[in-house]
Amino acid sequence: MQSPFVLVIFGATGDLAHKKLIPALFAMYKQKQLPQDFFIVGFARRDLQQEEFAASFDLHQADTQWSSFIKHLYYQQGSFGEEDGYQQLVKKLAQFDGQMGACITRVFYLATPPEHYEHILNFLKETKLSEGCGQGSSKWTRIAIEKPFGKDLETAKMLDNKLAQIFEERQIFRVDHYLGKETVQNMIVFRFANSIFEPIWNNEYIDHVQITLAEKSGIEKRGKFFDGVGILRDVGQNHILQLLASVAMDMPKSFSKEGVRDARCSAIQSLQCIDPKNVGNYVVRGQYDKYLLEQDVNPNSQTETFVAFKAFVQNGRFDNVPFYVRAGKQMEKNEVTISVVFKQTCHLLFKEIGCPEEGNILTFRIQPDEGISIQFIAKTPGEMGLGATQMNFSYAQQFGTSGQDAYQKVLLDIFMGDQMLFNRSDELESSWQFITNILKGWEQDEGKLYKYKEGTWGPEKAQELIEKDGRKWIES
Ligand code: BG6
Repeated sequence: MQSPFVLVIFGATGDLAHKKLIPALFAMYKQKQLPQDFFIVGFARRDLQQEEFAASFDLHQADTQWSSFIKHLYYQQGSFGEEDGYQQLVKKLAQFDGQMGACITRVFYLATPPEHYEHILNFLKETKLSEGCGQGSSKWTRIAIEKPFGKDLETAKMLDNKLAQIFEERQIFRVDHYLGKETVQNMIVFRFANSIFEPIWNNEYIDHVQITLAEKSGIEKRGKFFDGVGILRDVGQNHILQLLASVAMDMPKSFSKEGVRDARCSAIQSLQCIDPKNVGNYVVRGQYDKYLLEQDVNPNSQTETFVAFKAFVQNGRFDNVPFYVRAGKQMEKNEVTISVVFKQTCHLLFKEIGCPEEGNILTFRIQPDEGISIQFIAKTPGEMGLGATQMNFSYAQQFGTSGQDAYQKVLLDIFMGDQMLFNRSDELESSWQFITNILKGWEQDEGKLYKYKEGTWGPEKAQELIEKDGRKWIES
């Protein structure tokens, strides 16, 4: 990347900037993916000096390149709801332009809790920061906005309208970092570059699909954010539905920004919305036992830390194939997987010998130990018998790396102006439509909140959800 840029991170003292954005930028710097001239401005409420801001990222201080990286790091103190800080920012950005002798690309990254988005967008407009400098320069300005994008369908639409009043669609980057994960991108390659899978990727051969996004950790110090959001909005509306779309979508018409977004969007649009009155039958919500003792959590909170649901994608290809999905905090282990379970029909030839209960299962390990495994049936040694066995591909073993970090990919694409791996409005709207119906059901008291023990796979009820259909969760 050659062109200089300035990246303004709103909420720069928060979790996302500390855990993901700055580490990703530093990694890009070390890998020489950044141009010679770039400026990163942290914008936040805390009263910090520039050096204090840089020193707050203590993880990296031991690295010899850190001291040269932080020369690109600036800090602007400001309250999100007051104009003063933004006016200071105007001056700072003008100085950078002056230094470069040109209007350089401006990226505004909203990494704050969502309640600040409106203020920030208003002030970006009022102070004309959104317009960039010089004639026709708005084309050099971009806005990146983190999830959760709204709280439900209505608020997501309002936020989108607001964005559209200030920016053109090509300037807007609605971030879902799961789309930047190497293993998620690989879904398109695996499915459409290997001719052996596409013919059987449909309801004639596939029995059901399972998606698990399990995290061992609890909500850590994010109580203030998480308690008002819950796992369904935090990872369900976005990461989970994107994983689902990667399995359910049809082949994109072209490997282009709109080609891929059209295919993703159409899969999400085909999701059958669950009637709020029926939510108790299709969705299980849970909360880990000690959740109410977490910092900044309302002691009577009904917020879910676990959700499991059964969904259908009525797009012809997947008609009547159930997708069983579960996501939770304080789970038994860290695991993000997609398993495609094929129909098991024991051929007449082997009826007398007996077939294993499960047949072919294709499992995509999104993380950790990124890779793919295929379960198939082989003859057991000795007497004639049939047993299930695994064929395994591991990114680390094969390529010596698990690939690029998702936030590096996200940031790189924003700097390059490539929107393929970002949400489009219609895609977001459809995902919110599906999620809002579940939320409505919960508001109407459909679906009890089940407690579960830390370090387990969630409430018993989640087992029932799948077992009542004669299937079971796959343990990897
Ligand atoms: C974030 C959620 O979007 O994704 C977090 O807000 C979650 O709650 C995280 O822990 C998971 O991301 P990853 O990349 O660690 O799987």
